[in-house]
Amino acid sequence: MVLPALLRRVLIAAACTLPLMAQAGELPSSERQAELETLLYQDCGSCHGMTLRGGLGPALPRDHMQTFSAEALAHIIQYGIPGSAMPGWQALLSEADARWLADHLQTDNRLQTLDD
Ligand code: HEC
Repeated sequence: MVLPALLRRVLIAAACTLPLMAQAGELPSSERQAELETLLYQDCGSCHGMTLRGGLGPALPRDHMQTFSAEALAHIIQYGIPGSAMPGWQALLSEADARWLADHLQTDNRLQTLDD
């Protein structure tokens, strides 16, 4: 009965490393990316506007987002802006999720500029 015990350990070890790998800067799955896009325009949109043109929070057009580093944006998304209404999303978003959102805001954001 040595083998099943060993196998169990290997499986447990694999299960434990999977979430770590997901946080090591890998892309979220395409399913997760679709969820993140919905979250951006609906949840973030509840303050920043469904089209990101602003509301309680400032507008988030692509050209303005490019003035931040990707790291800074991901940090704002994960930890919020203390002393303001901008909440941290750490409980709901992994580091990879926050990175993906930051990248999306800078490169694939539907709102390119406020100058249109
Ligand atoms: C409860 C309202 C609220 C929600 C929800 C919210 N934000 Fe914010 N956000 C704010 C406010 C208010 C500010 C401005 C804070 C300040 O600088 O005083 C802000 C600032 C920001 C900034 C910095 C913008 C700048 O020009 O300085 C970014 C980026 C941002 N939010 C992204 C997001 C993202 C992405 C989400 C969703 C994951 C989100 N926010 C959800 C209220 C919100």
